[in-house]
Formats: sequence, structure tokens, C-alpha cells
Amino acid sequence: METLVTSGVSCFVIQANMSFASLPKGRKVALTTLGVLTTGGAGLALMLHQSVKASDLELHPPSYPWSHNGMLSSLDHSSIRRGYQVYKQVCAACHSMEYLAFRNLVGVSHTEDEVKALAEEIEVVDGPDESGEMFTRPGKLSDYFPKPYPNPEAARAANNGALPPDLSYIVNARHGGEDYVFSLLTGYCEPPAGVLEFDDGTPATMSQVAKDVCTFLRWAAEPEHDQRKRMGLKLLMGSSILIPLIYYLKRHRWSVLKSRKIAYRPPK
Ligand code: HEC
Repeated sequence: METLVTSGVSCFVIQANMSFASLPKGRKVALTTLGVLTTGGAGLALMLHQSVKASDLELHPPSYPWSHNGMLSSLDHSSIRRGYQVYKQVCAACHSMEYLAFRNLVGVSHTEDEVKALAEEIEVVDGPDESGEMFTRPGKLSDYFPKPYPNPEAARAANNGALPPDLSYIVNARHGGEDYVFSLLTGYCEPPAGVLEFDDGTPATMSQVAKDVCTFLRWAAEPEHDQRKRMGLKLLMGSSILIPLIYYLKRHRWSVLKSRKIAYRPPK
């Protein structure tokens, strides 16, 4: 790089021919060695990394074609409804869902009147009343789902020491989500035959029951699922109009700056 000083104005002339071919021989050898060593080292590191990962030993559930898998697909709400029935009649005997209240079902799987009737089936301890006594009353929309056991110790005692986990967020809490839960539910050889009958007449085969309860559990863990996808679609549609418009405006505003030519005229 040289510096030219012409009448008080300095400018830089950058040498352009910095190619590999123009380097001295010693440098070429050194650089080539460095390149080979780096590539070899990276390859070795990758190989060692792969060998300790041993991913063959890890089992992944197969990925099932859930109807809500698509980017713009909503949950199957009839399936959520059947899934709730499965949860209530089968899983609720051992598993709590403490973050779900009856009101959450309104407009999702049941009408308000249906949910009120469901809530009234349970007894809730409330109080104290004026005389300081606790009392029981039928459930209301604002009540949370009843728990099968009063405390974790009681749950363990009833299940040979294993604690049945709360199912509210189970599909988010397990690797593989609903694929995992589906595989778990259908993985045992003896399906309990004729455990339940669906209100809408859907045949209650084992895979149907498992699929429905998994859809219900997906909804429970992610009640905003449908809303999220609808928002995504709106965002895509909005930005497909806005982004080209903003780009055009930017080009327009900058056109003055981008097309001007600045010339320096040294003082005479
Ligand atoms: C007889 C009681 C009982 C019933 C009924 C029951 N479970 Fe379980 N479940 C358990 C117990 C106990 C565990 C804990 C097992 C453990 O930790 O080893 C468990 C664990 C689970 C797990 C977690 C597995 C894991 O990887 O940690 C899921 C998911 C599950 N159950 C889903 C269900 C669903 C869905 C239903 C209804 C179709 C159901 N269970 C019905 C007792 C039950």
C-alpha cells in the first residue's frame, strides 16, 4: 500500500494482485499445510463426535400423520371432544389435569350447557360458610378438573410407587409429543376391549381411542394452537403486501441518494 500526497489531498492505492499464485513458495507451502491440517482436524473432530453420539441406541417414536400437523391445519375438534371422553372415563382414574378448568372446554369441544352439566357431575368442597363450616356443592364452570388422588403420596401408594404424571402439558413434556404418547398407549399388547363407547358413534378401536386422547392432550397443552396458526396466516398475508410496498418505498426514498454523484474539485 502506498500513500500519495498530492497538493494536500491524500488517497490510498490498494494493491489488487494479492492472489495465492503470487505468494512466495515458502508461504505457499505453509498455507497449504495449514489448510490440510485444519480440514483433517475438523473431519476427525466430527468423526469422534459422531461415534460418541450413538444415536442408534435411542428410540424415537414414528411420526404419525396428525390432521393438525400442517402449517395451516387446525385441531380436529370432534376428536378433542372424544378425547375428553377418553380422558374422563379412562385416564382420569389415575391422572390429574390440574391446569384445565371446565370453562376451558366451552366453545372448544362442548357447548356451555353441556359443560355445565359435566361440571355438575362432580362434587366440590367449598366454604367456609357463615358458620365456618366447609360444605360440598355441585361443580361449576370455573372449577378445575377433579384430581384422582388428594396428594402425590396417595397416588404413589395406589400405583405400586409410580406417580402418574399430571397430563395438562404432557405432550410438551415428552420428546416426540403426541407421537410418543400415541406410541405409548398403543404399544402394549392387550388392548382393554370395550372400555368405552363414543357418543358420536365412532368405533372405539384402540388406535382411535389413543388418537383422540392425544389430540385432546395436544389441545390441553396448547389451547392457542388454532389461534396461533390463524395469526401466522394473517401475518404471512399482511407481510406479503407490506414487505414489497416497504421495499418499493425504500428504493424510492433512497433513489436521490443512490443516484447522486459526488465529485471532489481540489481548490486551484
Ligand atoms: C391405572 C392407573 C392409570 C391409568 C388408568 C392411566 N395411567 Fe398413565 N400412568 C400411570 C402411572 C402409574 C404412570 C407412571 C409410570 C412411571 O412413572 O413409571 C403413568 C404414566 C403415563 C404417562 C407418562 C409416561 C412417561 O413417559 O413418563 C403418560 C403420557 C400417560 N400415563 C398417559 C395416560 C393416558 C393418556 C391414559 C388414558 C388413556 C392413562 N395414562 C391411563 C397410571 C395410569
